[in-house]
Amino acid sequence: MSEPVTSAAHEDELQAFRSAAHALVDSVADYLAGLPSRPVWQPLPDALRRQLLDLPVPEHPAALDDLVTTALRDVLPHAMGNGHPAFFGWVNPPPSPAGVIASLAAAAMNPSVVSGDHADIFLERAVVRWLAELVGFPHAPGAGLLTSGGSAATIVCFAAARGRALATAGHDVRRDGLAGAPQLIAYVPAEAHSCVRRALELLGLGSGAMREVPLEGGRLDAVALRASIAADRGSGAVPALLVGSAGTVNAGVIDPLEALVDVATAEGLWFHVDGAYGAFGVLDPAIAARYRGMDRADSVVLDPHKWLGVPVDAGCALVQRGDDLRDAFSLIPPYLRQGADAPVGTFAEYGLEQTRPFRALKTWATIAAQGRTGIAAQVARANALARELATLVEREPELELAAAPETSIVAFRARPAGCPPARLEDVNRALPEAVQARGRAFVTGTVFGGRETLRACILHPRTGSEHLATLVAEVVATARTVVAAG
Ligand SMILES: Cc1ncc(COP(=O)(O)O)c(C=O)c1O
Repeated sequence: MSEPVTSAAHEDELQAFRSAAHALVDSVADYLAGLPSRPVWQPLPDALRRQLLDLPVPEHPAALDDLVTTALRDVLPHAMGNGHPAFFGWVNPPPSPAGVIASLAAAAMNPSVVSGDHADIFLERAVVRWLAELVGFPHAPGAGLLTSGGSAATIVCFAAARGRALATAGHDVRRDGLAGAPQLIAYVPAEAHSCVRRALELLGLGSGAMREVPLEGGRLDAVALRASIAADRGSGAVPALLVGSAGTVNAGVIDPLEALVDVATAEGLWFHVDGAYGAFGVLDPAIAARYRGMDRADSVVLDPHKWLGVPVDAGCALVQRGDDLRDAFSLIPPYLRQGADAPVGTFAEYGLEQTRPFRALKTWATIAAQGRTGIAAQVARANALARELATLVEREPELELAAAPETSIVAFRARPAGCPPARLEDVNRALPEAVQARGRAFVTGTVFGGRETLRACILHPRTGSEHLATLVAEVVATARTVVAAG
């Protein structure tokens, strides 16, 4: 049996913490300062990959100083790359410095943010309200919560949508499951993020219950959509959910939210907006009008860990009626009844998690460190850089733009001189990884409009024109190499 920790031992432990933490903070600051002069990304050395995979369970305690040294040597230098201003992959910003500091303080408190009279509870309530206010969504206490990300928030929102649709049809899904329930139908644009389909699959609607929303050149064919809804109703199914994107993952396109919500309202469907990437785009006055209708959605998902740069993880689900979430999730056994009699109850009554991390502190710190004006300026700046990149792409004969950017994502393709048209798909498919391997810029690929496409997502506050020029030069040069290699 181990000895109880004496107060002298505890003092020593705290002293070791203080010294190791100071060393870590200084080294992390050096690390962050050094990132722009390092390759954006590099593959791990084979030996290190093996060493990490094979790490044995340590038999004996290690000193905190040694842990800091090991992390600084073996882990931090081998990052994903999103700390670098020439990182344009997926939807991954660098962390906000305020969020990094707050993560340490949140871990030191280590609450489970569910209920009770402690500051984290009230800070999350405030932060959720801030997020709703920032994107112009109405908010009442309880009508939203922080999640691990957009995917989890989508499941939370769809569970509420499913519960409401089935309750209206006279079916209690919490008691009876889906057995004997009418088939619910979801209307989903082709460009919706995969988390939408996954949530529908998980919740038992099945991907077969998805109908494509007729969108052509950014316009909704409302007549065709309503005809499709009527056909489903005619066959005995229950049209339940309509989805729109406030910024698609492939090309940053904002769906015609107002036209969509009009149909949803007329048809009695739950309207869900996926703003995981793009909801904060509404802060850019140049495109704010494109978001009209988002405020009327039944639910909105947005990710502070995307455009705001809150360190992962921080997603958020917002709903018009908090009771829709509570109806779907509330379950209070006797051992968890603390706080359940408060007007809005506990956070666990509104989502998937029981033990919940303190995501609000890093989100609060990130927003507070910039203020609404700072965030709006950063969003508008990223969008302007995307337009600048689109111009560079259009000027470059060996590239072509796949879509005019609406937000901060630019979709484009390579067409290297001398490349036979039949090889273009293969070349564009191979390009992102080949560009990444050179270490000067990081871009990822997708299929857009049925064709292999590169997409550059601009989220880093220190990305500048010089990084856009590097990206274009790297893609052109790499494409030539890929073609030459056959
Ligand atoms: C438009 C969109 N929706 C949803 C998601 C999923 O969010 P998360 O990765 O936080 O689960 C993403 C992720 O990139 C996204 O871009």
